[in-house]
Amino acid sequence: PLVTFITHDQAEHEVHVTAGTTVMRAAIGNGVPGILAECGGARSCATCHCYVDEAWMEKTGVADEVESEMLDFVMEPRETSRLSCQITLSDELDGLVVHLPASQF
Ligand code: FES
Repeated sequence: PLVTFITHDQAEHEVHVTAGTTVMRAAIGNGVPGILAECGGARSCATCHCYVDEAWMEKTGVADEVESEMLDFVMEPRETSRLSCQITLSDELDGLVVHLPASQF
């Protein structure tokens, strides 16, 4: 699937990854700036915060309880906030657009 990351400065980074890759890995593996992912995807650092584009929120689903608790620690949380390590890309999500925050902490 194709994912487009839009960084805080409005730069677009398009990345193609295989299905099963998380949004976090797609960014880290392709040098997209703005995601730190200090815990490596263990849902315990919240430095992989992203905002799912509103048009995609229905398809990505919502954060579960544990993820929601982690989202309490991010800078500038919004309705669209997610941890990017908790979104797994599939053909269903081909074309996904996520926005990256100005800072992860
Ligand atoms: Fe640490 Fe997502 S990479 S919570």
